[in-house]
Amino acid sequence: MNKLTLFAGIACIVTMFALSCKHEPEELPGVTNNNNGNVVTGGEQACSVDTVYFQNKVLPLLISNCAKSDCHDAISHQDDIQLTSYLTIMNTVDVDPGDPNGSELYKVLNETDPNKIMPPPPSTPLTAAEKNIIYTWILQGAKNNACNDCDTTTITYSGAMLPIINTHCKGCHNPAFLSAGLDLTAYANVSNIAQNGKLMGTINHVTGYPAMPRGANKLNDCRITQIRNWIAAGAQNN
Ligand code: HEC
Repeated sequence: MNKLTLFAGIACIVTMFALSCKHEPEELPGVTNNNNGNVVTGGEQACSVDTVYFQNKVLPLLISNCAKSDCHDAISHQDDIQLTSYLTIMNTVDVDPGDPNGSELYKVLNETDPNKIMPPPPSTPLTAAEKNIIYTWILQGAKNNACNDCDTTTITYSGAMLPIINTHCKGCHNPAFLSAGLDLTAYANVSNIAQNGKLMGTINHVTGYPAMPRGANKLNDCRITQIRNWIAAGAQNN
């Protein structure tokens, strides 16, 4: 081995050590690190009622409530925390698989100090049910998992629209956090953007509309079809 090869070899080993210090997510048993941790929501297998799936529930909740502009999105990432994908979450925030009470990601949701609680005021704290999603997901091993939970024949407002809006849009479009002055917790406003074309334009990433949900992957095809079908059936409050 000549000196140059030796030097390159040492440099490489040193770099590997340096990189491994940067909170690389450990390869945990049972974790599907599909697509380098950035799978698009919607797995093949049917959802089990006992499992909380990262791609279906956790990621949309974090994006909507925490990855808003000026917070933990790709541009701002306050405190170096970026909550936009499995990889960035596992790399930038403390999550101890199996131990929600020891995980910063869960603990900050329950802080009473307004300077520490997440999301901070004026955003409202997560609901008990939303906190439970994060809690159970960590307890179940904080996996990057997904399941197929979408059925295009369900097109009622309560059955199809509300779950989508609550999961993917509400965090940024509610009375306490009114992105674009738009409150999507009120049916009348959802109906309004359904009629004026902004709903389909934004979720289909049509040129001329801001792409929604902001900073996240496009909704999967099945969800977009559910919304299209609901609009085609009259965008009713049913
Ligand atoms: C992370 C925050 C965030 C999420 C999540 C989000 N939005 Fe938005 N939305 C914004 C912001 C901010 C704007 C203003 C335009 C911009 O800066 O991109 C906006 C603009 C819009 C507009 C345009 C309003 C107008 O009058 O031009 C529509 C429609 C919209 N969002 C719908 C949705 C829908 C539907 C979802 C869920 C599928 C969603 N948004 C999820 C932050 C968000």
